[in-house]
Amino acid sequence: MNKNMGLKVSIVMGSQSDYKIMKLSEKTLKKLGVQFETKIISAHRTPKRMYEYGLNAEKNSIGVIIAAAGGSAHLPGMLAALTSIPVLGVPVESKKLKGLDSLLSIAQMPKGIPVGTLAIGEDGAINAALLAASIIGITNKKIKKKLKSWRISQSKSVNTIPK
Ligand code: RP5
Repeated sequence: MNKNMGLKVSIVMGSQSDYKIMKLSEKTLKKLGVQFETKIISAHRTPKRMYEYGLNAEKNSIGVIIAAAGGSAHLPGMLAALTSIPVLGVPVESKKLKGLDSLLSIAQMPKGIPVGTLAIGEDGAINAALLAASIIGITNKKIKKKLKSWRISQSKSVNTIPK
């Protein structure tokens, strides 16, 4: 694996139903010119898929994993246990508890296996992509530059005087 070029971000989600949120991660990464792949992998419905994916992530040139899940949300923690690549967890809003269960499951990892936890839902999906780009940007100048320009245009878009 080339250490400086070609690292991609992996977006993994527990269910097709998470995709309406995780499309926002894709959209954000596209804007920043970050290569990515997107997969549905469920820790409880497709455990073998999760195991293989986690074990092979590094040799498949993945630099950061964004893992989204709702409910008891064990996917990000399980993936983090299978690889030393940074894992960013996006808690998806659940029907019964509005995503509080997802947030706590992802954030409250016991010491030893960290998962960087973002906000519930849309904000989390966007911020996970920005953070992933920032991590990839440590070794990829082009992405670092794009991220800086994105921040500058964000600042410019904020009015000084309310309309
Ligand atoms: C989790 O359970 C998924 O990440 C999803 O957020 C939640 C509900 O899944 P579905 O019942 O919609 O497939 O595994």
